[in-house]
Amino acid sequence: GRPVSGDLGAADFTAVRPNRRDAVVTAPGFDHDVVIRWGDAVVAGAPAFDPHRQSPEAAKQQFGYNCDYVGVLPLRAARRGREDRSLLVVNHEYTDEALMFPAGVYSDTEVAAIAMANHGMSVVEIRRGLRPGSWRRVTSLGKARHNRRVHIDTPFTLDGPAAGDERLRTTADPSGATVLGTLNNCAGGTTPWGTVLSGEENFNQYFDLPESEQLDERYTEAYARYGITGSGRGWSAVDPRFDLAAEPHEPHRFGWVVELDPHEPDEAPVKRTMLGRFKHEGANIAVARDGRAVAYMGDDERGDYLYRFVSRDRVRRGSSARARRHNKTLLSAGTLYVARLVGDGTEDGVHDGTGEWIALCDDTESFVPGMSVADVLIWTRLAADRVAPTRMDRPEDVQPNPVNGKVYAALTNNSQRGSRFEADEANPLTSSMVRAAIGAPLTQASGNRNGYVLELSPARGDHAATTFTWDLMLVCGDPEAAETYFGGYDKTQVSPISCPDNVAFDDHGNLWISTDGNALGSNDGVFRVPVSGPERGRVTQFLTVPRGAEACGPLIADDNRSLFVAVQHPGEVDGATFEVPASTWPHSDDFPRPSVVVAFRDR
Ligand code: FEO
Ligand code: CA
Ligand code: CA
Ligand code: CA
Repeated sequence: GRPVSGDLGAADFTAVRPNRRDAVVTAPGFDHDVVIRWGDAVVAGAPAFDPHRQSPEAAKQQFGYNCDYVGVLPLRAARRGREDRSLLVVNHEYTDEALMFPAGVYSDTEVAAIAMANHGMSVVEIRRGLRPGSWRRVTSLGKARHNRRVHIDTPFTLDGPAAGDERLRTTADPSGATVLGTLNNCAGGTTPWGTVLSGEENFNQYFDLPESEQLDERYTEAYARYGITGSGRGWSAVDPRFDLAAEPHEPHRFGWVVELDPHEPDEAPVKRTMLGRFKHEGANIAVARDGRAVAYMGDDERGDYLYRFVSRDRVRRGSSARARRHNKTLLSAGTLYVARLVGDGTEDGVHDGTGEWIALCDDTESFVPGMSVADVLIWTRLAADRVAPTRMDRPEDVQPNPVNGKVYAALTNNSQRGSRFEADEANPLTSSMVRAAIGAPLTQASGNRNGYVLELSPARGDHAATTFTWDLMLVCGDPEAAETYFGGYDKTQVSPISCPDNVAFDDHGNLWISTDGNALGSNDGVFRVPVSGPERGRVTQFLTVPRGAEACGPLIADDNRSLFVAVQHPGEVDGATFEVPASTWPHSDDFPRPSVVVAFRDR
């Protein structure tokens, strides 16, 4: 990319030091603004936020809780002078009831109903702030016609080969074609055709089973593989579809990749069954040599897999209505694959090897003996188990780098690596305690504590190729620990990094990483890492988030001038409550509010 003034990818900056401050801290010479907070009005007529007078009706019009994925899409405007608007698309992954509600004010049912309404997604028009790289939300909501709050009662279309399957039908939806709501939307991606993909991740936790009832015997194995146990969050008191005894199929309607077109505020978002059902972290698209769309995906569970989808049809260029209509069908038909990685031995001093994508099914044919296409798509984990893929350490974001054509996956951690899951060349242990204990029995505290970043190189640079080579570009942790690896870069010159979760790229191809659950004891944050040239592996911390928060997003936008970060669950530490918060960030009240921030060059 062409360097511009304020280019965060080209800037030299001094690393932010690990800290425990209750603040967003950027590198010296940079600043940040809060763009939107939990409770801020999203649609016209939304009531002013008051934590002591919350309601489901209000929440469905306000910015939801626990912002996660952040997408920014330039808004094409008909009128002059409006080019500077963009659409901010954000996931609201889950709720922290202890931090959201004062004690003794709301009944359990009210808490459940308000928490339900705080899940989903928001689309918010934003405009440039006064300082280059800064953005603010549009507050005259009557003129923000794209603003939209997708919540627990928003109708979604089920699409693709599994739509209409008997296992997706419920009392309220006998056709198995329309689902209300989306749950636990974690990461995501923006497609080349201007839609947003969002992953339904830990959807298993929302279904209750009354004590007197049993789980449906037809689904024992599948429920178990997905962690659906019936110990839910009491939502069945608000809506009986969350009662597993009454509606055993409702969980099958979650765990999908959602596609939403933020340019079409009246269009129902779609659940794409062709991309399989698992704990989807997110999905990110690359375009193959022949023009087909390739989606990379991770299943965030200890010992679960990396997946890829290759569309049957090609991406149509341009932004005509016809091209957009066509491109919005691409994720309905194609082939779904799971990854197997083989190491070439660690004698060469590098964690690397080869890999293959194993086809599970296409839109008309299953390649897993004994399973139909719908079986493979609805119970993707069970299908994958039969073809011996590589059990990974909680695959989070898996994202193609548009500059070098390689794919980067964050494998965040795995407390059971080395015990329940054998370590292998692609899944090493990152705990120095384990290293010190070689020859001694592995303990529960062992495993992959700090995570790693996997780099995949598709054969011939073609995202549709069925083979690839791989290497661990980063083995995270304390640079002073022997097992860590920073792409070969001088370990005395890098920032400590732990539990990589979301990734992004700037126009130079630098990798940006946000972390979740820093096992080294300081706050989470965002890091910049060049992936090629003499600086490859030079991890530099750019920003830290407040106490108890996870850094999500991140997204580099606006010619590299803006870094958007979702500050999720500030104050989420053991024992913290609304009355005794561990954080009060962003300090607009006396309790924490998850918010999206934008960081930029200060001048
Ligand atoms: Fe919601 Fe895998 O993080
Ligand atoms: Ca090797
Ligand atoms: Ca995540
Ligand atoms: Ca990402």
